[in-house]
Amino acid sequence: MRLTDTSDLWWKTAIFYNLDVKTFLDWNDDGIGDFQGVAHRLDHLAELGVTCLWLAPFYTSPRRDNGYDISDYYGVDSRYGHFGDFIELVRTAKDRGMRVIVDLVVNHTSDQHPWFQAARNDRTSRFREFYQWRDDEPAEQPQNLFPDVEDGVWFWDDVAGQYYRHTFYRHQPDLATDTQVVRDEIAKVIGFWLQLGIDGFRVDAVPYLIDTEDGAEHEYLRAIRRFVSRRNGTGVLLGEVNLPYDEQLKFFGDADGDELTMQFDFVANQRLYLALARGDAAPLTEALLARPALARGNQWGNFVRNHDELTLDQLSESERAEVFEAFAPEEGQRIHGRGIVRRLPPMLDGDPRHIRMVYSLLFSLPGSPVLYYGEEIGMGEEPSITRSRAAVRTAMQWSPDANGGFSNAAAEALVPVVVSGGNSPEHVNVSQQRHDPTSLLSFIKRLTTAYRGAPEIGWGTFAVLDQPHTSVLAHSIESELGLFVAAHNFAPDGRSFTLAIDGAGDDWLVVDMLSDDPAPRPLADAQLSVDLGGYGYQWWRVVRPGEKRLL
Ligand code: NOJ
Ligand code: CA
Repeated sequence: MRLTDTSDLWWKTAIFYNLDVKTFLDWNDDGIGDFQGVAHRLDHLAELGVTCLWLAPFYTSPRRDNGYDISDYYGVDSRYGHFGDFIELVRTAKDRGMRVIVDLVVNHTSDQHPWFQAARNDRTSRFREFYQWRDDEPAEQPQNLFPDVEDGVWFWDDVAGQYYRHTFYRHQPDLATDTQVVRDEIAKVIGFWLQLGIDGFRVDAVPYLIDTEDGAEHEYLRAIRRFVSRRNGTGVLLGEVNLPYDEQLKFFGDADGDELTMQFDFVANQRLYLALARGDAAPLTEALLARPALARGNQWGNFVRNHDELTLDQLSESERAEVFEAFAPEEGQRIHGRGIVRRLPPMLDGDPRHIRMVYSLLFSLPGSPVLYYGEEIGMGEEPSITRSRAAVRTAMQWSPDANGGFSNAAAEALVPVVVSGGNSPEHVNVSQQRHDPTSLLSFIKRLTTAYRGAPEIGWGTFAVLDQPHTSVLAHSIESELGLFVAAHNFAPDGRSFTLAIDGAGDDWLVVDMLSDDPAPRPLADAQLSVDLGGYGYQWWRVVRPGEKRLL
C-alpha cells in the first residue's frame, strides 16, 4: 500500500480551517460578514494550504448562541446572502481544491423552531414527541453545560404546561433523539447537505446528542455513519467529544472504527496549556502516550484554539488553577468556571518564538490540524469583552485600515472588531504579513507546506524519543515513507541533546524540514544531535539513500 493511494481517506492528512461567515468578510458593507465575502477570500485560504473549510452554523437562527440555535435546518441566514450565494461559495472552494464541512447541530433546536412552537402550543401535536417533557422537576438534575447561566436542564414552560429538557441554554430545547421520528428528520437534514456537495460534518455536542444509557447510542451513531457513507462514500464526521480517551474511543466505535471518523483531541489540548504554563512538556507527553490507538480510517483533530472558551474541565482543580494563573489572571478572562476566553498570542505575551513553537507542534503531531480563523496571523481577543466567548469571535483582520478591512460599515452596525491593545488591525493583519517572509503568516504557510509534503504525520506510528530534558518533547512518526522526527522546547532557554535513531544505517541521511537549506546531510552513528534555542522547534526527515522523496 502506498500512502498516496488512500485519497478516499482524505481526512487523515487534511488541514481544516474553521470560520464563521459572520466575521470573515463583509462584502456588501452592512456590518455583517457574508457568503460573498468568504468566496472572495478563498484564495487566501488556498494559499495558506487549507484543504478543508469548516463553516460554523450559517442556518436560519435567532442567533442567541452564535447560530448553534437553529430555527430552520434547510435555510441560510438571510443576512449572509441567499442560498445561491452559499452554493457559489461551496463551488468556488471546490474549484480551489478545498473540501467543505458544515456543523450538524441536532442535540437541540432553537425554541423558535416551528417544531418546538407547534410542540409547546398543543399537547396533541405530532411534534410534541420531538422534544423531552415532564410534569415535575426532578430533585436531582444533571449539571447544565452553562452552569453559571442556567440552574439545571429542566425548564418550566407556561405555554406547554410542562417542563422541557435543555442541556445548553434554556432557549435550546433538546430533541428527543431516541425517537424514530426525530431520527428520520435528522437523516433528512444530513442527506440534504450532502446532496448539496458538502463533504461531511462537524458534529456538535455528540455525548449529549446520544445520551441513552444502554449502549443504544452507539448503535445510532453507527447508523448515522452508515447513512453518511451511503450518500457520500468519503464524507467525514468530525465529532465534538470532550471526554477522557477511553470514552472517546467508544465514540470512534472502538477497534471497528465505524462511528465518528474523527474527534478533536480535547485531552491533549488541555494538557498542552498545562505544559505551556509550566514550561514543561511532560503533561502533554503523558497525554500523547495515553492516546488510544485508532482504527485505520479514524483520525484525531489537533487544535490550539476554537470558537469556544479554552475549556480546562479535564484538568484537576489545582492544574486548572495553574493555567488560570498563567494565562487568565483576570476574572473577566474566564467563563463557566472552567475556561478561558482568550486567543493564544496574548496568553503568551506575544512572544513570537513561543507562538511559533506551539504551531510547529500542532502541525507535527499525529493527526490532522484544525485552525481557527485568524490564527494564521496571530489575532488576539478583544480584551474589553469580558466573561464572554464573543471576545474570540471578532472580525477577521485583513488590513491596517478602518475595521481591519473587514467592512466599511459604521461602527454601530458592526460585528465586534478588536480595537484595544497591540493586537488591533494596525498591528496584526493579513496584508502586512502576506509579503513579509518573516511574518507568522509566512511561517504557518511553511508549516502547511511541510505537513502536506509529509503524509506520514497523519498515517504513521507515534513514539516519544528518549532525551534528558523534561521541558522538551521529542517524537517520531514512522511509516513506509521513512521516519519523521520533531523536537519542541517548552522552556525559554536552550537545550542540547542527542537522539538515537534506532535501526538507522551508516548511509542514511537527515533533512531539516523547516530550514531554508534542506540539503540532506549524513546521519552519523544513528545519532541526531539537536540544539534547540529557547522555545525552539525542529522537524527532520530521516531517509534511506535512494528514497524517492521531494526534499
Ligand atoms: C458546542 C458549540 O461549540 C458551542 O459554541 C455551543 O454553544 C454549544 N455546542 C451549544 O450548541
Ligand atoms: Ca454583509
